[in-house]
Amino acid sequence: RLTDRVKRLLGVMSVDEKIGQLNMLTAGHVITGPGDPANYIEALKGGHLGGVFNLFGRGQVRDLQRMALEETRLGIPLIFGYDIIHGHRTIFPIPLAEAGAFDAVLWERTARVAALEGAAEGLNLTFAPMLDISRDPRWGRMAESAGEDPWVTSLFARAKTHGFQGDDIKSPLSLAATAKHLAAYGASVAGRDYAQVEVTERTLHEVYLPPFRAAIEAGVAAIMPAFTDMDSIPLTAHVPILRDLVRKQWGFEGVIISDYNAVTELIPHGIAADLTEASALALRAGVDIDLMGLAYVQGLAPALQQGAITIEELNQATARVLMLKEQMGLFDDPYREAAAKFDHKARRVEHRDIALDAARRSIVLLTNRNNALPVTTPPQRVAVLGPLANAQAEMLGPWSGAGLIEDMVPFLPGIRAAWPRAEILHAPGVEIEGGDLAGIDAAVELARRSDLVVLCLGEQRFMSGEAGSRARPDLPGHQAEFAKAILDTGKPVIVLLSSGRPLTASWLIERADAVLATWFLGSEAGHAVADVLTGKWNPSAKLSVSWPVDVGQMPVFFGHKPSGRPLKTDFRYSSKYLDLPNEPLFPFGHGLSYTRFAYGDLAVTPSEVRAGDKITIEASVSNDGKVAGEETVFLFMRDPVASVSRPVLELKGIEKVVLAPGQSKRVSITLSTDDLKFLGAGFVPTLEAGAVEIFVGPSAKEETLLKAQLQVVL
Ligand code: IFM
Repeated sequence: RLTDRVKRLLGVMSVDEKIGQLNMLTAGHVITGPGDPANYIEALKGGHLGGVFNLFGRGQVRDLQRMALEETRLGIPLIFGYDIIHGHRTIFPIPLAEAGAFDAVLWERTARVAALEGAAEGLNLTFAPMLDISRDPRWGRMAESAGEDPWVTSLFARAKTHGFQGDDIKSPLSLAATAKHLAAYGASVAGRDYAQVEVTERTLHEVYLPPFRAAIEAGVAAIMPAFTDMDSIPLTAHVPILRDLVRKQWGFEGVIISDYNAVTELIPHGIAADLTEASALALRAGVDIDLMGLAYVQGLAPALQQGAITIEELNQATARVLMLKEQMGLFDDPYREAAAKFDHKARRVEHRDIALDAARRSIVLLTNRNNALPVTTPPQRVAVLGPLANAQAEMLGPWSGAGLIEDMVPFLPGIRAAWPRAEILHAPGVEIEGGDLAGIDAAVELARRSDLVVLCLGEQRFMSGEAGSRARPDLPGHQAEFAKAILDTGKPVIVLLSSGRPLTASWLIERADAVLATWFLGSEAGHAVADVLTGKWNPSAKLSVSWPVDVGQMPVFFGHKPSGRPLKTDFRYSSKYLDLPNEPLFPFGHGLSYTRFAYGDLAVTPSEVRAGDKITIEASVSNDGKVAGEETVFLFMRDPVASVSRPVLELKGIEKVVLAPGQSKRVSITLSTDDLKFLGAGFVPTLEAGAVEIFVGPSAKEETLLKAQLQVVL
């Protein structure tokens, strides 16, 4: 499959030049890991550099590319990478929030905008989408994920891959995407980042791998293995996963890029004595690019001399890197001229409109006692309080690419613009973290003088994301004392909760009049929230993760396996806690609206199926309230008796409906018998005869679901 050019190059490249192509160094100001801050210019001129990351901007990229083309012996173009997790210049909601829109069209559109903006600034490759199933809010990287469910994350994988790569990866306005972090990184024990992972082979195949398979089927250009280990082998050196499964079984021909310094970290992982051994292990497992570790540059040549790797293995890795550059058209158009001419600034308004749409679609209305929201009659005096009220930088969230603080609209100006005649009072009260209680009294005074309080609480943006694990993911600092003082005023209090994960603050959620999960919403946060407060936008987002009552429940998720002793509250010897409920505070799929939706008339046809049949599942959804609204309908299944025990609920489909007040629609989802299969012996998809239960409804809370049954006949 190699082009003539790549074959020719491989024929003339020295071992050093080949190894150089496998080296990607950080060049910018952004530090996304440890490692030796190597001199990338020196490496480039010496022919020891194939790619650069954390550097963007037309001029800088052009200068470096020119050096690669004109000042190295073979003139091979560089590839420029960057973490574009939720927007480049225009910042969209963090993935965990955007996932709550359950809208693949939106997911693809925001990735496309990010790609256009990134490509316009010289980038070719992004280290996204992040596809780690996240079930433990202690793990800070939950913020970057699409949540707890493999079906949703697979949909997300396809949408984001298409969005970044466009129809043709060769287009100068496309970015090569990287599916990361293969695999089960989200299962780090006790939610501590970089810690060991304990998953069974079945859970790996059922839960953690499907999104990667989906990304590969969608044509993703690259894969990044996780920092963590699996069965005592770090993924960076994991032959069974990288080489046997991904390359051989799944046929992935793209590049595998290590995580930052991860090849070198095989030494502290305890499976390599030195860089020679570390780089041999990674290369032999199938890792083509060493990101920022310098392990390959220092270790591969001795590994080759000692026979720890073969020249064929080095050639294969080099060929894959060159082929990526070839497929992207970098040899013929190294400066990506069309992208250089693309004026992304002229698209600013259009892109911000998309950011507003995405932000509104990501806000989850968690509670709304006595219809406290929306506030349709503008209040006379509003106190917008709390450390997140006017926190412009925080709106960026973690991993916010090249977003500029000054471009963010925090809540306070958004609310001011929405209620121009209201008197808006503001005080932060306390700091997000640390600080003291001195500001509380002044804020309480403002609350007392107001008709309404909008209380903006939550996390600082870097409390989630990489290395953002928290043993107690609750309200940090003195925010709890502050919130209690405000609630004690007796004024109506609407809470905006900004965070990269569900926060455990059940008491607050219980006491406030309404609570909105506002995550980190990006550029248009303030306008989006104002639209929800005023009712200009009827919230429609739902949780893509279960929201725990307490840290003691973590991880809690809907797709768990049944217990032989299922919960019986009045029976001691059943699966339960003595001091906490089993159920989360809010289930997966929870999210209120300003209207009410009712479900009925579930029909499954045919009720008896044979292998290869299609199954149509229909239900009526009606809007029984007074305003128009959008509802996400979930379809789950359960296989109650199979040769291996199956999850109590498995998500199999979603459908979105927009309904006017009083309107009703018939929602229809088609499944095939493939969707009813599970991994049987040898992890082969298997269809077994017997009953299958089908559930349709608004969330993973079983009491809210309509239920029907079908029979598989073989
Ligand atoms: O892409 C990231 C990865 O997700 C975590 N470590 C750093 C990489 C490069 O910035």
